[in-house]
Amino acid sequence: MSAATTKSSILNPQSFGKVAVLFGGRSAEREVSLKSGTAVLAALQRSGVDAHAFDPSQRDLSELKKEKFDRVFIILHGRYGEDGTVQGALELMGIPYTGSGVMASALAMDKWRTKMIWQAAGLPIPDFELLTADSDWNAVVQRLGLPLFVKPANEGSSVGISKVKRVEDLQAAYALAARYDSLVLVERFVDGQEVQFPIVNGAVLPSIRIETPHEFYDYDAKYLADDTRYICPGLPDAMEKQLADIVLRSFRVLGCRGWGRVDLIIDKSGKPYFLEMNTLPGMTDHSLVPMGARQAGMSFEQLVLNILEEAHVG
Ligand SMILES: Nc1ncnc2c1ncn2[C@@H]1O[C@H](COP(=O)(O)OP(=O)(O)O)[C@@H](O)[C@H]1O
Ligand SMILES: [Mg+2]
Repeated sequence: MSAATTKSSILNPQSFGKVAVLFGGRSAEREVSLKSGTAVLAALQRSGVDAHAFDPSQRDLSELKKEKFDRVFIILHGRYGEDGTVQGALELMGIPYTGSGVMASALAMDKWRTKMIWQAAGLPIPDFELLTADSDWNAVVQRLGLPLFVKPANEGSSVGISKVKRVEDLQAAYALAARYDSLVLVERFVDGQEVQFPIVNGAVLPSIRIETPHEFYDYDAKYLADDTRYICPGLPDAMEKQLADIVLRSFRVLGCRGWGRVDLIIDKSGKPYFLEMNTLPGMTDHSLVPMGARQAGMSFEQLVLNILEEAHVG
């Protein structure tokens, strides 16, 4: 952790060259990206980096090359940004960018395929299946029990997710999730503490535990409610250390790079279950990655410099 904390502090901010901060975009999560991007841009500028705003919904990406940008800090969320498409365009232009590459970005967007890879790698995940319109709802409940979680494979922000407590409600939960994606996942409910681990430049930062009076960490609890509690570090010290290894493995096995955040639930016996990987988590002052960084002694400015330092192509 100390390497990640101190590395860029010895770098000259000018050595990054001309930096574009990509934010805004045209996904459903544009508003969150605007907030994250504004915070990242301001922090880079405060640190003396020659950083400029670039909204890909307003300008063509080819202008990055024409305007001779040396590096790109991607802080887009959702489609056309978090899913590997922008990463692919930057690869073709040969401009180094922050975070995961094309394959890992696309893979982590898809919760179903992410789980299959984690399963193959021996990482603990809740039992899951794909649902279709003609699934046998009773048989699903027999295999996975109740309650259940039903979710679209390719969404975020808890959109289209239901906690199902009665077999009669499974069909409606499926129909809701299917509005967002043709792939719909059903998972065994894990009863326990919800924690998220930030990962920055190969270091696992202190986790954040989430407590909400809601049924689960739904859209409301994430963005609107004022009774969601965030506790950092989220777990006793020994457990944080014990989980760091497996958290890093969940990141590496998907081919992720640079930075990210993994969501998991620790059940009552202390066993972790991995839910999903986020390759472009929120970066406002209130977001969870900056919270974990702060706990590790890393300021917001230092955090963005550390992420920028790992920009890469190929
Ligand atoms: N299998 C599960 N067991 C218990 N809670 C779950 C499960 N799956 C999802 N949840 C709850 O739903 C929230 C959102 O699920 P997640 O898979 O992380 O999707 P999203 O991309 O929308 O964040 C989680 O933060 C958690 O509160
Ligand atoms: Mg999540």
